[in-house]
Amino acid sequence: MMFRASVLTLYPEMFPGPLGLSLAGRALGGAWSLDTHFIRDFATDRHRTVDDTPAGGGPGMVMKADVLARAIDHASPEGDPRPRLYMSPRGRPLTQGFVRELAAGPGAVILCGRFEGVDERLIAARGLTEVSIGDYVLSGGELAALVLLDAVVRLLPGVMGHAESGTEESFETGLLEYPHYTRPQVFEGLTIPEILVSGDHARIARWRRAEAERITRERRPDLWAKREG
Ligand code: ADE
Repeated sequence: MMFRASVLTLYPEMFPGPLGLSLAGRALGGAWSLDTHFIRDFATDRHRTVDDTPAGGGPGMVMKADVLARAIDHASPEGDPRPRLYMSPRGRPLTQGFVRELAAGPGAVILCGRFEGVDERLIAARGLTEVSIGDYVLSGGELAALVLLDAVVRLLPGVMGHAESGTEESFETGLLEYPHYTRPQVFEGLTIPEILVSGDHARIARWRRAEAERITRERRPDLWAKREG
C-alpha cells in the first residue's frame, strides 16, 4: 500500500523540495506519492483572494474558510480515509509515536497555513487535526509539512536499508542514541573507546545501553522521567 500525501499550499514550488532527494526521493512514486494543490486556484474572485482581515480587528490576515474548504474538498473528497492535518504551532506535538501512527495509515492531507492562520470554522467543518513540530513559530506550514513527511516516509516499508536502523535509534527506545565511532582509530589524538574494538558483543551492548542512559539523563531529564522500564 502506497502512503499518499496531498499538500495544500500557497507555495507548491516548495514541494517535494528536499524530499525529492536521498532516501525519500528514491521512494517517491514507490512507497509514497505526493500531490500538491495550489490554494489560490480555489479562489473565485477576480483577484484570486485567499485571505482577509481578522474579524474583531488586529494585525495580519486570516485565510478564508470558503477558499480552503473548496481546496480540501477537491484534494480529499468525502470518504477519503486519510487524516486531515493542519500544520500549526497550536497543534498536537509531532512525536515519534505520532509519526509511527501516521506511517501505518493510508497517507495524509496536509494544509499549510500562512499569515496569522486560518478561519477557525474551517478546522471544525473539515475535521482538521492541528499538528505542531515544536515550540517556535515558522512563517508558514510548508517547512513543518516537509519535516512531518520526512519523518513518516523513512519509516515506510522498503525505504530504509536496514530494518534495524529504524528501531534502534533515539526515541524508538525512549532513550537518546549512544555515541558512534568509525575509523581512523586515532583522530586528533582522540581514540575510539577500547571496549568498541574488543570484539566482546555482550560488553559492547551493555556499554551502549549505559551511555544511552547517561546521555538521556544528562540532556533530557524529561525523557528520562518518562521512560518505560
Ligand atoms: N506553522 C508555523 N509554525 C509551526 C510549527 N511550529 N509547527 C507546525 N506548523 C507551524
